[in-house]
Amino acid sequence: MNTIKYKKNEEYNVAIMDLTHTGEGIGKVDGFTVFVEDCVPGDEVRVRLTTIKKQYAMGVPIQYHKVSPLRQDPPCPYFGECGGCQIQNLQYDAQLKWKRDHVVDVLQRLGDRSDAQEITKDVIGMEDPYFYRNKAQYKISKNGKVGFYQKKSHHVVPLDKCIIQQDPGEDLIKSLEAAIQDLKITIYDETNGKGSLRGVVQRLSKATGKMMLILVWNGDVNDQIQAFAKRLAKENGSVASIYCSINKGRNNRTMGYENHLLYGEKKLVDEIGSVRFQISPLSFFQVNNAMTEVIYQTVDRMLDLSGKETVFDLYCGMGTIGLYLAHKAKFVYGIESIEDAVRDAKENAAFNGIENAEFFHGKAEDAIFLLKERKIEPDHVVLDPPRKGCDEVLIQAVMDAKPKKIVYVSCNPATLARDLQMLSAEYDVMEVQPVDNFPQSMHVETVALLARK
Ligand SMILES: C[S@@+](CC[C@H](N)C(=O)[O-])C[C@H]1O[C@@H](n2cnc3c(N)ncnc32)[C@H](O)[C@@H]1O
Repeated sequence: MNTIKYKKNEEYNVAIMDLTHTGEGIGKVDGFTVFVEDCVPGDEVRVRLTTIKKQYAMGVPIQYHKVSPLRQDPPCPYFGECGGCQIQNLQYDAQLKWKRDHVVDVLQRLGDRSDAQEITKDVIGMEDPYFYRNKAQYKISKNGKVGFYQKKSHHVVPLDKCIIQQDPGEDLIKSLEAAIQDLKITIYDETNGKGSLRGVVQRLSKATGKMMLILVWNGDVNDQIQAFAKRLAKENGSVASIYCSINKGRNNRTMGYENHLLYGEKKLVDEIGSVRFQISPLSFFQVNNAMTEVIYQTVDRMLDLSGKETVFDLYCGMGTIGLYLAHKAKFVYGIESIEDAVRDAKENAAFNGIENAEFFHGKAEDAIFLLKERKIEPDHVVLDPPRKGCDEVLIQAVMDAKPKKIVYVSCNPATLARDLQMLSAEYDVMEVQPVDNFPQSMHVETVALLARK
């Protein structure tokens, strides 16, 4: 293909057929791929090319010749500017269809699975796909306005609310902005490492309606942050606890590793099904309570426990899946790399009166050998790794342990496809169930059931 003929600023008519995994429309000009911002499948647009690469071009729409019937008016006024959501302009049924097609496509292309179409179920979606997130990671602009980063940038888009959050945040945002101004709190500047406040993380409990605020701070705990916390606690009635998370590094981490309780209770209490969880600032907790329950129910259905099985819950966070399953298992062993989360898991077991669960701190790829040394063998294994997927050593160790079933919970279809390929040497993939844990975004959670050949 002669890409030389395409030049920046030239205009073409493009029919949008698909979406990229970051939400741009995909179309073709004479077979040459063009990614176009703010488009959905079915749009026919005049596009101005902005970037030309060897394999593709990028462009912006300058006129819509035909508006896709799959479009909807995004209910959020910040959509397009704020980088939080990517597909609020796509009707919800079409979002779910795209997510299933995406999982199938990735399993075929990256996982070499010819059976992807047959084994992948329809995505389980939400009845109301808004107001679902239990965690907001607010950023602060130079002039003290609260918002989220713009897409692909660190520019803060100020907001007065966010309609995918359980609590859209109007009161909190106002209270944060006023306190920042009145207390003359300086905002962290990533270009020179100066300034104090790097961001505010809000965790909400669906069960109690209470919230934990984590003030991410470039410095030690001082009078200013104490005064900030005191004021936020006074103005926001549902605050259960406020932490200072110290992050003095030149990095993009949301939180630091040192977290000091400034106000209230140490942990936030929430629940999934009938299990109650006490959550620390650093512990991973799925962001969508309703769909997390659907994911855990799916794991439960796939394992179909009788009460006699030993289950390994690997990458267990604060033990949520294992504790959810414990009443149907003989014993559950969890492994997790974040120490605070392991502490939470142990305390959560006690909090729920669960005695048939034990949790280990360490990397799953290392700690699984400790269980082997202790001659503990799993009947079934649950894998729930972060986006980068499972370590190869861990996958081999799991296969060597010969569990009857493996249930793989994934937030990244690409690494799921890669890992399933390796596991397929000894396991058949029986079913792939996507769940819409993140409506309005391009993300999809997938639960896959594998059975030993
Ligand atoms: C997607 S979360 C799943 C947590 C939990 N299963 C749940 O449902 O809430 C992945 C977890 O893996 C942990 N993790 C990351 N790398 C790890 C590793 N190499 N070994 C063990 N845990 C790891 C993270 O800290 C995080 O808690």
